[in-house]
Amino acid sequence: MKIALLGCGVVGGGVLDIVDKRCDMELKYVLVRRDKPELGSRAVADINTILNDKEVDTVVEVMGGLSPAFEYVSAAMKAGKNVVTANKHLVAHYYKELVSLAKEMGVAFRCTPAVGGGIPWLKNLERATRLDKIDSFCGIMNGTTNFILDNMHVNGSDFGEVLAEAQRLGYAEADPTADIDGLDIQRKCIISANVAFGACFKEEDVPVAGIRHIKACDIFAAEELGRVCRMLAFGKNVDGKVLAYVEPSFVAAGELEAAVSKAMNIISFETSLSGKESFYGQGAGRYPTAYNAVQDCVDILCGVKSFYTDKIEDMKPDNSAEKHPYYVRFAGKDEWLDSMIIEPCGEGAIIADVSVAEMHAWAAKAKEADPELFFAGII
Ligand code: HSE
Repeated sequence: MKIALLGCGVVGGGVLDIVDKRCDMELKYVLVRRDKPELGSRAVADINTILNDKEVDTVVEVMGGLSPAFEYVSAAMKAGKNVVTANKHLVAHYYKELVSLAKEMGVAFRCTPAVGGGIPWLKNLERATRLDKIDSFCGIMNGTTNFILDNMHVNGSDFGEVLAEAQRLGYAEADPTADIDGLDIQRKCIISANVAFGACFKEEDVPVAGIRHIKACDIFAAEELGRVCRMLAFGKNVDGKVLAYVEPSFVAAGELEAAVSKAMNIISFETSLSGKESFYGQGAGRYPTAYNAVQDCVDILCGVKSFYTDKIEDMKPDNSAEKHPYYVRFAGKDEWLDSMIIEPCGEGAIIADVSVAEMHAWAAKAKEADPELFFAGII
């Protein structure tokens, strides 16, 4: 296998190191924006060098972002090259286009490192769909936010300081907004729904709430309730009606998710045959993510010639029937909120069961009155 790597940042450097130690694959080119003398003649600046080289059969994209990643990956598929990517934004946004193109061109399209870093989540999800319908999935899919929340709980750390530490350790996105506002998790949730349910969602249809405004008092409130705050993504298929959303959640202290520390991830699915299966591991970082990218290359070497599913059905998630109580900290006065309050909780309050759709719609408006609003599902 002759590989061209698009991008050579944290993950790309890991791919390079792993591939260079193998004899069944060779990294022929690395597309870089800035000169990298240590790459020698492998460094190229023009994508056409890669596209026009018939020897290159597989392109590994780790540059991130939508453009030019989409144009490059599409052009690689059109040139008959297999594609492996760790770019969740790309896959979540262009799922339909890329899966259709891969199918048309008869090339493999894999993105295992895009969800769960080093955890073989998508591969196992795909495997589960061979025997049974996926009823639901749920999990911690972002290392940065788990690192922040865990440090706030365990060490009483300050949000800003611990975010800076996550960036220093290479967990966070280039723009950590994607982590703390939940967009990175939303994309991973969408890709998981693609594979689990064959559902094609638009990003704007999947409600997401983040932890940008979480404070020590919210962590304290969770602890007072015997719970731990975690950022979770949810997907469920109830008789063909599919729901998907992302929100901070107060998880009972005995649950698996509550025990997940640092930048670790845990993602679970449930089918009626298998029951609940959980996958735990490094959700971010150079070598775990690079490991799954190279594993995808090995799968292609072993004959995989497709995406994880062929099914592409345009859907909007329906979160109107999914209900649970919430913790809400809101500084303004609001009639609906007042009518829902069961009891005060520290600087916030616990409100009665409300649908995810209604809660997120209310919060979107309430943020205008209190931009520092924070809420978490109590599950
Ligand atoms: N920023 C991401 C995270 C990287 O923290 O999980 C892995 O997708």
